[in-house]
Parts: sequence; structure tokens; C-alpha cells
Amino acid sequence: MSRTVELVLPAVARSAAATETPLGRLTVPSRAIPERRVLIDPEELGRLRAAARAAATRAHAPYSSFTVGAALIMADDPDRRVFLGANVENASLGGTICAERTAITQAAAAGYRRIAVLAVSCAQALHARLADRSPCGICRQVFAEFASDAPPSLVLIDSGEEGALGEILDLDRLLPYAFRLNG
Ligand code: THU
Repeated sequence: MSRTVELVLPAVARSAAATETPLGRLTVPSRAIPERRVLIDPEELGRLRAAARAAATRAHAPYSSFTVGAALIMADDPDRRVFLGANVENASLGGTICAERTAITQAAAAGYRRIAVLAVSCAQALHARLADRSPCGICRQVFAEFASDAPPSLVLIDSGEEGALGEILDLDRLLPYAFRLNG
């Protein structure tokens, strides 16, 4: 029997500010993100992180030598199977696809549309600062396409730290101004 734990995603409050310039007002918008609580299964997260680490060994990264693995569970998959991804680079560098997106596209092609949790592990930057092992902007936007609110879709970022599962974020905290077509 796996035991669930309540995860608290703390509220984030940012106040707006406006600065008058000779050419008009410049506004920094406010954004309040309410606190959220969600039940997570640490064992499932641990298995997902291990799967992401293993997937990184299968990356095709001859140009950067930066290998990344991803492992994903979809909320609308009753079997909660694990979809894997690794970065696949290309001699035409723009043809490269990140680990997160290879996992998400596999799950989408299998017919699933709502991310439960996506684990990512950057093998060469496991102990680096968060920005050096976090999903890139394109992957965040692709994550947004398949993210849900209740329960919130989560990203687990491997920190490589002994005794830690890593850092965890929902979409509001990962990409606060995600683009949405038609609202
Ligand atoms: N990469 C990922 O797979 N995921 C990310 O979120 C960041 C970057 C890959 C792309 C490229 O193959 C290598 O890491 C170096 O940028």
C-alpha cells in the first residue's frame, strides 16, 4: 500500500506597479497565485525520478553531451503507466527535441491529454542550481497544453540530493503567463 502525503504549494502574491514614462505608462502586472494542496504518492514520485534518470542514459546528445531524461504519468490514464523521454539532438541543431517533450508527445500520441506528474533529470547538472536543470521555455509551454488545474499537473525536478526527492512545481509556478489561444 502506498501512502499519500499532502503537498502544499504556497501562495504567491505579486503586487502591480506602474511607472510613467515620457512615452506612456509601463505596467508590471500583478499576479496572485493561491495556495494549493494536493495529495501525492512519494513512492510513485521516487519511481518516476528513477525512470527519468534511467531514460537520460538513452539520450542522443552527441553535440551538447548534456543528457536529460524524463518520465511522465498521465492523470487520465487509469493504469498510470510511465511514458519515457530523452533528449534527441540533430545535426541541424534546431531539430533537437528535449526529453520533456519526447515524453509528452508519446503520452499524447497514446491518447492521453492530462499530465499528472512529469519528472525530469539532467544527468550532467544534477547538483547545479535549479535554473541549470529546469525545463526550458518551450517545454513549459508544451506542458501547459496538457496541464490541468484540479488536481494540478506537477513537474518534479531531480536535484540529485541524497535524502531528497527534488523540487516540485505546478504550472502556475512554472510558467505564470503561459500563452493560451482563445482564453
Ligand atoms: N534539454 C532538455 O532535454 N530539456 C530541457 O528542458 C533543457 C535542455 C536538452 C536539449 C539539448 O539536447 C541539451 O539539453 C542541451 O541544451
